Amino acid sequence: GEKMPLEAAVITASDKGSRGERVDESGAKVAEILTANGYTVVEKAILPDEQAQLEHKMRELAAKGIALIATTGGTGFSLRDITPEATLAVCERLAPGIPEAMRALSLKITDRAMLSRAQAGICRRSLIVNLPGSKKAVEECLGFILPPLKHGIDILR
Ligand code: MTE
Repeated sequence: GEKMPLEAAVITASDKGSRGERVDESGAKVAEILTANGYTVVEKAILPDEQAQLEHKMRELAAKGIALIATTGGTGFSLRDITPEATLAVCERLAPGIPEAMRALSLKITDRAMLSRAQAGICRRSLIVNLPGSKKAVEECLGFILPPLKHGIDILR
């Protein structure tokens, strides 16, 4: 497809973050790592763990043609965690190998990686990838997936 620059957006799903009760360190970390890897981060959003709001933002970013939409948070077992469900609702095609790889590689670091319900998929020409909520987990997971992700994103362009 078309050549560069690769645009990315970061969505943080956090009730406390969206109310300003918590500094969004994970979203900032995702943006920092994406920038260091050649992406232009064009938007950072902090939303509550509300499926409709998350879906709306993902659809809006996909309509803009953003190449990579990375989410952080809301993938665990808390009753409010709903990011994977929003992602499933928005994507036309799933890319299960991405969260499979994240979990398989993360399991070598912590057995709690099995508790991740993260999803990834394609909406229009955008790849949406769910990352866990902690700053540490985000760094680890992006380290695992970013190199091969680039190839998939290139094909979608
Ligand atoms: N993956 C990596 N690489 N490192 C981690 O520390 N934490 C796990 C998992 N994946 C973790 C990880 C934990 S404790 C949970 S509950 C799930 O991600 C979901 O995280 P979330 O609820 O913050 O989205």
